[in-house]
Amino acid sequence: MSASRTALTSGKPMLDVLSGRAPSRRPIWFMRQAGRYLKEYKEVRAKAGSFLDLCYDPALAAEVTLQPIRRFGFDAAIIFADILLIPHALGRNLSFQTGEGPVLDPIATGSEVAALDISQVNGRLESVFETLDRVSGELPGDVALIGFCGSPWTVATYMIAGRGSPDQRMAREAMYRAEPWFSDLMDVLVEASVEYLCGQVDAGAEVLQLFDTWAGILSPDGYRRWCIEPTRRIIEGVKAKHPDIPVTGFPRGSGLLYAEFVEGTGVDAVGLDWTVPVEWASEVLVPKVPVQGNLDPVALCAGGNRLDREVDAIVEGFEPGTHIFNLGHGILPETPLEHVSRVLDRVRSAD
Ligand code: CP3
Repeated sequence: MSASRTALTSGKPMLDVLSGRAPSRRPIWFMRQAGRYLKEYKEVRAKAGSFLDLCYDPALAAEVTLQPIRRFGFDAAIIFADILLIPHALGRNLSFQTGEGPVLDPIATGSEVAALDISQVNGRLESVFETLDRVSGELPGDVALIGFCGSPWTVATYMIAGRGSPDQRMAREAMYRAEPWFSDLMDVLVEASVEYLCGQVDAGAEVLQLFDTWAGILSPDGYRRWCIEPTRRIIEGVKAKHPDIPVTGFPRGSGLLYAEFVEGTGVDAVGLDWTVPVEWASEVLVPKVPVQGNLDPVALCAGGNRLDREVDAIVEGFEPGTHIFNLGHGILPETPLEHVSRVLDRVRSAD
């Protein structure tokens, strides 16, 4: 690589793609890359006690953030935390029960929303900033550090139901009834997310990702109001303080509305789930922003020749400078480690 070309790149393939520079290789990382498919994670997790204890311990959280980087050499590290730390920092009870996932006190009234205290959020999440600080001091020079939060709609679905739900019915009912507390809750979540994300950038995050796991269950009108609009406001708020920070949106299951999401939010890149056709995305989305994705996590688990074909279709369908290789959703705990290495090798040797 010539000296002038070197000067024009950040040395981090992920940041190069996000800023429209030619990367030295196609970046690859996996959503939920720190987690139960790794035995070294399970060891630290057992030592920490509860999942929340792990999230709030900067030394252990930094360790599990770095584990997948050491083992596989991913091009980005995502800070170890959870999207439900914001509700927790807003004063809601939160626990994670084994086999059950998150449990919160469900929200159903205006007075509960009025009691949410935004002023405490960054103070209560100080340990996450410390984790970021530790990780940024230890990352290899070509690895980008990703901060994140949940998008307001997805976080609200858990706050309203008090747990994960198959159809997000309670939150959708609150939305259709146009409960005033519902829109107040979304406003609180927008504001808290801006504060928290700005704190993450100050602490060393180089990219931000917004997880809207349940975007795909919204009707088109609901999607515009409660997925696109809050995302747009968060990005506007973060960029008012940090104009150069790249923000990736992951509005899972958006289907035809991915295009409107990109137009309407101001994201710097969009994460695609595995149902999105590569040809459509490269024709419609890639001219606007780089894309991230979109291997089915179940294909990764299954392995074999079919996994190779799926990887090839993605790599061949997206030009290297416009694409960040990832899964279409989080890695599954049952995933064999050899399948992960196999995908990395295949992506790295393809271009
Ligand atoms: O490696 C990484 O990606 C960073 C850490 C991370 C976690 N959760 C750790 C975690 C990230 C980015 C998340 C995001 C998250 N959390 C989302 C959005 C992305 C998605 O997967 O849809 C959501 C919806 C949550 C909420 C959440 N956290 C649920 C529903 C659960 C229970 C289900 C499960 O997978 O266990 C969690 C727990 C959780 N968050 C674990 C991890 C590693 C497993 C807990 C454990 O180790 O016991």
